[in-house]
Amino acid sequence: MNITKVGIIGSGTMGMGMAQVCAAAGLDVVVVKATPGSTDRAQAGLQGGLDKAVERGKMEADVRDGILARITLSTSEADVADCQLVIESIIERIEEKKALFQRLEGIVSEDALLTTNTSTLSVTSMMAVCKHRKRVAGLHFFNPAPVMKLVEVIHAFETSDTTVDTLMAFCRQVGKDPVLVQDTTGFIVNRLLTPYMLNAFRMLERGTGTIDSIDQAMMAGAGYPMGPFALADYIGLDVVMAMSQNIYEDVRHEHHSPTHTLVRLVELGYLGRKTGRGFYDYSQRPPVPNPDLGRPVV
Ligand SMILES: NC(=O)c1ccc[n+]([C@@H]2O[C@H](COP(=O)([O-])OP(=O)(O)OC[C@H]3O[C@@H](n4cnc5c(N)ncnc54)[C@H](O)[C@@H]3O)[C@@H](O)[C@H]2O)c1
Repeated sequence: MNITKVGIIGSGTMGMGMAQVCAAAGLDVVVVKATPGSTDRAQAGLQGGLDKAVERGKMEADVRDGILARITLSTSEADVADCQLVIESIIERIEEKKALFQRLEGIVSEDALLTTNTSTLSVTSMMAVCKHRKRVAGLHFFNPAPVMKLVEVIHAFETSDTTVDTLMAFCRQVGKDPVLVQDTTGFIVNRLLTPYMLNAFRMLERGTGTIDSIDQAMMAGAGYPMGPFALADYIGLDVVMAMSQNIYEDVRHEHHSPTHTLVRLVELGYLGRKTGRGFYDYSQRPPVPNPDLGRPVV
């Protein structure tokens, strides 16, 4: 199947990032805002990010204009009707995603591919509510989508080989390096990264080190580009908590359960970079460790 138009549901961090990737590869994209309200903020965010790239000399102005011209923002799911591929990227909650897949089946053609960008939820659970299951799969991009090369292509229970082949080719077409993964909670990367971040949070709670020292140690000692706290803030602490809960639900091992500090930060609305505060305080330049953290937790 020749994919020329991609529908993306959800205009958050990942939705807009994936839209940029597809449009930069010459595809038409429609992004549907999944929650009520105007699309102005998403449009302004996209424009602002691209303008910055042009100002810094990382992108030509005509490339920016081409990307903007190929992306349409909408508030109606019906606008993905003529897309050959739909990628859902709404909130990481299984009930919302299942309901969306059911609605999408009534909108797109029978052979359009229906995919999810879920970080840890079961793709097979979303497939289970669909009538035409062979076209359902996972397409897991990484943040920031325009920069990160990997896409995990998730083979769920009844995904056809044709669907997998089409998605692998699509990923290469948009400049990504796809890896095929069987549908397992957390797939490859998050199944390894989530317990790593949780272990760092527990180290902080035990007083083994500070936010700074643990981050610094993993960068200088393990060669990671950022430490576990900076990474968690970058991903979004609500997303990290959802990943942790979903893996815990699956394996029921305490090792994977969300930690005290993570739960409290999410409860307080401190979700990392996107809200200006998480393990770090981003109102300071450079960001400083959140001064309310670091006391031992019993
Ligand atoms: N942040 C990451 O690093 C990352 C990486 C890969 C995949 N993902 C996955 O991508 C998806 C989106 O994550 P994101 O980081 O873009 O989050 P985000 O918070 O930036 O965006 C979430 C989107 O969901 C919408 N939304 C909120 N409540 C909703 C509801 N009740 N029903 C439907 N939609 C609702 C929001 O309007 C927003 O557009 C999630 O499934 C997440 O697990 C995230």
